[in-house]
Amino acid sequence: MVGVVFIEPAGGEVELDATEGWSLMQVATSQGVEGIDAECGGSCACATCHCYVEGEAAAALPPPSEAELAMLEHVVAERRPSSRLSCQIKAAPTIDGLILRVAETQS
Ligand code: FES
Repeated sequence: MVGVVFIEPAGGEVELDATEGWSLMQVATSQGVEGIDAECGGSCACATCHCYVEGEAAAALPPPSEAELAMLEHVVAERRPSSRLSCQIKAAPTIDGLILRVAETQS
């Protein structure tokens, strides 16, 4: 299991044990984390799973793919250097402790 923390738009913190290999969008939506719409179901086609990554583990994330970078241009909330699409991040031991601040709006 990989420990991740989601910070919901209203400020609530949700600590979850993520199953290795699952996308962090799947982890969040399966556990009722608020603020992630995930309209496309994780196929990198909607930009409604936008989060900001924080914490030391953020440095261990693989860089976004070209497809993710292209879709990040369509996020509704402010795009920041820490912006990622949570459906494109897979739970792995290297990112244990990652913090994801869910964007304040997705659409
Ligand atoms: S769920 Fe659609 S881009 Fe992530």
